[in-house]
Amino acid sequence: MADFFLPKNSRIEKGVTFEAPKGAKRPKTFKIYRWDPDQPNRNPRLDTYTIDMDDCGPMVLDGLIHIKDKIDPTVTFRRSCREGVCGSCAMNIDGVNGLACTTAMEDVDGDIKLYPLPHMEVVKDLVPDLTHAYAQYASIEPYMKSDTPGPGGRERLQSPEDRAKLDGTWECILCYCCTTSCPSYWWNGDKYLGPATLLQASRWVNDSRDEATGERLDDLEDPFKLYRCHTIMNCTNTCPKGLNPGKAIAGLKKKIASREV
Ligand code: SF4
Ligand code: SF4
Ligand code: FES
Repeated sequence: MADFFLPKNSRIEKGVTFEAPKGAKRPKTFKIYRWDPDQPNRNPRLDTYTIDMDDCGPMVLDGLIHIKDKIDPTVTFRRSCREGVCGSCAMNIDGVNGLACTTAMEDVDGDIKLYPLPHMEVVKDLVPDLTHAYAQYASIEPYMKSDTPGPGGRERLQSPEDRAKLDGTWECILCYCCTTSCPSYWWNGDKYLGPATLLQASRWVNDSRDEATGERLDDLEDPFKLYRCHTIMNCTNTCPKGLNPGKAIAGLKKKIASREV
């Protein structure tokens, strides 16, 4: 029989509350998922921090950094570029996967609820364990493969038309917002590659300079690696870079169905 409740040790408990600073003019409350691997017998909890938005920059990441710097140094999260290009600060913001550095605090109605990306093991607080997802990415060999030397020993050129075929894939920052929003990945993530890795696979399959197209498609032609995608399109709806992994996956299926290589 299906179990509709989380195991007891996974249920989220009420945590500690830090009140707004005195005289706060623009208070905003963060509710942050906390779990500490050094206290494995304690349940996760939701801590509450109210800050004054006038004390920091405008983005959710600015608020988080302010909380860590001024209120609670133990709050743990990843970030690097703070410009939406490294993918590190991906998390679940108010029920939707996104980047903390490109989401304005003001754009979140009410309290800002922050959880790690869903359905991944948690390293600590807002940090998901992406080891398996990175291994899946490495498995598609995301680099140019060629057996022949470049023409005249020079670099391989590409026509503007062939270069344009990579648009919509090269922009991916590997934040995994899409993969962790995909129900097929939730259930079969051990074998299904998921939208982020498949979008990257399509980037190499569509590169006119790559000479391993047939080999790449052979590897993807697998009931689990590729065909667990059921075109639910959560991935496309959630991508913070406006990319369309669902379309890229459909393109891979079409290439396999019609290929002559
Ligand atoms: S379209 Fe495919 S990859 Fe995207 S969410 Fe749906 S099942 Fe997952
Ligand atoms: S396709 Fe979009 S959501 Fe998925 S990893 Fe790339 S940038 Fe992130
Ligand atoms: S910190 Fe790099 S994408 Fe947010």
